[in-house]
Amino acid sequence: MQDALGTKHHKRYPVVLRTVVLTMVVISIIYICSVCLKQKGYIISPNMVRIKVKEETCRYPSISPSELPYVHYAEPTTYNREECACTPVRFFAILSMQRSGSGWFETLLNSHINISSNGEIFSVKERRSNVSTIMATLDSVYNLDWYSSASKNECTGAVGFKWMLNQGLMQNHEEIVKYFKRRGVFAVFLFRRNLLRRWVSVLANSHDRNAKQLNGTHKAHVHSRQEADVLARYKPVIDVKKLIPDMKQTSKWSLDALQHFNETRHIVLFYEDLVRNQTVCLLLLEQLTLLCTDCYIMLNIEVKNSLY
Ligand SMILES: *[C@@H]1O[C@H](CO)[C@@H](O)[C@H](O)[C@H]1NC(C)=O
Ligand SMILES: *[C@@H]1O[C@H](CO)[C@@H](O)[C@H](O)[C@H]1NC(C)=O
Ligand SMILES: *[C@@H]1O[C@H](CO)[C@@H](O)[C@H](O)[C@H]1NC(C)=O
Ligand SMILES: *[C@@H]1O[C@H](CO)[C@@H](O)[C@H](O)[C@H]1NC(C)=O
Ligand SMILES: *[C@@H]1O[C@H](CO)[C@@H](O)[C@H](O)[C@H]1NC(C)=O
Repeated sequence: MQDALGTKHHKRYPVVLRTVVLTMVVISIIYICSVCLKQKGYIISPNMVRIKVKEETCRYPSISPSELPYVHYAEPTTYNREECACTPVRFFAILSMQRSGSGWFETLLNSHINISSNGEIFSVKERRSNVSTIMATLDSVYNLDWYSSASKNECTGAVGFKWMLNQGLMQNHEEIVKYFKRRGVFAVFLFRRNLLRRWVSVLANSHDRNAKQLNGTHKAHVHSRQEADVLARYKPVIDVKKLIPDMKQTSKWSLDALQHFNETRHIVLFYEDLVRNQTVCLLLLEQLTLLCTDCYIMLNIEVKNSLY
């Protein structure tokens, strides 16, 4: 009986022990897991704090909420912006036509230490062969990954390029307008009021392509008075019958372009005005570099009347 009880006791004892051990194991596992989670939480939280802090420090208090869609904190894949990671970048595109002063205008923009205008990147046909190559090129420019002689440094405050209306811009305008809206690209239209002068310049430039008047080299943009005088010696002959239709076509293109981009943020500038009134240039530079956010309205010149 005692033996039987003893054995019973012995048999029951391990069951209790097992339950206790099992419970302890479960509790330990729960404890370890909770500690693990806490540890993990401890590892994650400083990063989250850091990201939040970065977001907050990157937000310039001077930028008004309506401007926020137009400022970006670019993250190039090819290098690190380092101490300028928080320098906001504005995106722009100079939309123009050949012989309208865009070369001069771009030189002016690039004379600013923090503005980078990368030239006529879509003059290369492969880059505009279809919508996807156009988008990939745009992404590369606006991510600050584009390399050109005009590329500035990691502190670039405004980045863009010049785009001629006949370089895939008008053909693909729907997708491009969507892109500009999505990424907050500022369209800077640059036209020339005097279409006759533009036409003379087109003819003279195409003549020089073969004649190479400057010591055997062709120059689309001169950089000195002397060079300008040499090129000005050529007097093109204009086919009067073709002149009016050509000028009408040019006007139509400008107006169509404005129509397509009418719902994106844009500005219309005329070469003649920029040359005559430097104040307009200064205001635009300020606009592009965040120094001034209300100049935009002042610059919005009446367009349609002047184009007709
Ligand atoms: C250019 O950017 C740097 C870095 O953001 C800034 O310190 C400097 O003042 C800017 N220069 C001009 C002329 O805006
Ligand atoms: C776009 O053009 C590129 C290069 O010309 C080509 O490799 C690519 O397949 C084209 N994409 C589409 C969608 O047509
Ligand atoms: C052309 O050559 C002349 C004489 O060698 C020189 O004075 C002039 O600067 C050159 N012009 C250009 C555009 O290179
Ligand atoms: C832009 O043009 C379209 C088509 O003509 C027109 O319906 C729309 O109202 C215009 N938007 C603005 C802001 O002018
Ligand atoms: C230059 O442009 C500014 C801004 O549009 C204007 O306020 C100013 O009167 C212009 N100056 C001249 C001399 O036309």
